[in-house]
Order: sequence, then C-alpha cells, then structure tokens
Amino acid sequence: MNWLIKEIYSTGKVHDSGGLDVDLADCIDPREGEFLIKVIHENPHIKRTLEIGCAYGLSALHICNAVDGREGAIHTIIDPFQHTQWRGIGIGNLAKAGFHSWELIEKRSEHVLPELDASNATKYDLILIDGWHTFDHTIVDTFYATRLLNEGGILVVDDVNFPAVRSVINHLLTYPCYRLIGSVNRPRPLSRRQHLLRTLVSLLPKEKRELFLSSYVCQLVDSRETQSLMVALKKVTSDERGWDWHEPFA
Ligand SMILES: C[S@@+](CC[C@H](N)C(=O)[O-])C[C@H]1O[C@@H](n2cnc3c(N)ncnc32)[C@H](O)[C@@H]1O
Repeated sequence: MNWLIKEIYSTGKVHDSGGLDVDLADCIDPREGEFLIKVIHENPHIKRTLEIGCAYGLSALHICNAVDGREGAIHTIIDPFQHTQWRGIGIGNLAKAGFHSWELIEKRSEHVLPELDASNATKYDLILIDGWHTFDHTIVDTFYATRLLNEGGILVVDDVNFPAVRSVINHLLTYPCYRLIGSVNRPRPLSRRQHLLRTLVSLLPKEKRELFLSSYVCQLVDSRETQSLMVALKKVTSDERGWDWHEPFA
C-alpha cells in the first residue's frame, strides 16, 4: 500500500495546501481500497481509468497506485466540487503521493459523460462510480459508463448499501453484458427485534445463555444476511440490447 494511503487511514486526517488538518470523511474504506487494488492487479489490461467523485482522493490514490508503472495508464477524475467543497485536497494528495498521470474534469458527471460519449475519443478499462447517489444520477452515470467501457472493462460502484444505488445495481445485473465479479460485503445491521433479543440473551445467567446457543432464538438473534458495499461488474460482451429490451428487477 502507498505510504500516503496508510498515513491517511491511520491518522484519519488529510491536509489542505496550507498544511491545515482536515478530518477524513466520505471516502472508500481500507477494505474497499484493497478490493479496488485486487481487481486492477487481477486485470493487467486496465490502463485507462475513470472515476466519478474524488473528494479527498482516497479512491483515486488506490487506482493510481494499482496502475502505477503500466504503460499508457491515465486516470480521469470527474468532480465538480474538487476545488470548492474539497479544497483541492484530493488532487493535492495525488501529487503528494507522486502520481502525475491523471486529469481532473471539474464538471458534473451528468454534463461531462455525454460529452465524452459523443466525442468517441476514449474508452475506459475501469470506471468507478462514487458521485451523487440518487437513483436518477446513478442510472445516468451507469448508462454512460456502460457505453464508455471497453469490452472486458470493469464497472465498480460504491455505496451499494444505499437503496437507490442498490436498485440500479439490481437493474445492471439483468444486462446480458455484465457479470458480477466481486464485492465488498458486511453483515446487515441488526433489526430492532434482533437487537432486543441479543440484549435480553446477554442478561441471562451463563448456563441459561448457553441453553440458548443452539436454540431458535439464538439463530434469530444472529441471522444477518450480508449487504454489499461495493461491487465490480465485468462487461463481458458488447451491449447488444434491443430498443424494447427489459428484464424486471427488484
Ligand atoms: C462519496 S464522495 C467520493 C469519495 C471518493 N471516491 C473517495 O473514495 O475518496 C462523493 C463525491 O461525488 C462528488 N459529486 C457530487 N455530485 C456530483 C456530480 N453531479 N458529478 C460528479 N461528482 C459529483 C462530490 O464532490 C464528492 O467528491
């Protein structure tokens, strides 16, 4: 792992150009970062990468770190608020870490993605979507990402635990051109009923608590499905859906 990524995660701080401390927020976590690096390492063809949503630069640092040394690698970043809300800290971190093969497009993704598509100038090997998380913004981002990805390219979407983002992923999973190749998961938070049961069981004397260990109640307390936080889909073929194609999705 790059020294700056380690430092940022261990201190929970980033620094602006004047050296002022800023609390780290709104970024991918270390597991998601490792996942991004693993996906890129397992796919040596990945050189042209695109990211929507840079903030303090954690995802960009991981991507630039993983493609570092690959000939022709360039990372394109779309973030309309990099120099306003994020005070230039994301791109400052890239420079600090010694990564120079990137470009910043400081516009909204819903404006710039159609321009990139219409220009037909570049296709990408990996696109990370981590911008504005409403259903309609996410569907616009993934619509253009599907057009901008090379065949064999990989679409990574963060914050899939957000219901709006999850719905878009459920839709994308019905496309014949996509295969789910991996995800970062965590157990779902306990429901109120599970939380209450867990508290009650913990109050029981040890012998009684053990009685519950193999019981139905215990299973109920501990039954937690997993929830995806980040997913990676591979575009395994070109997108050949017809004008009236539709598959129901949850
Ligand atoms: C969750 S943060 C991204 C975190 C970043 N990927 C990381 O791991 O450090 C969301 C980002 O989306 C950006 N954003 C918000 N609206 C956007 C839009 N319409 N187009 C592109 N980016 C947008 C914000 O400026 C912010 O940087």
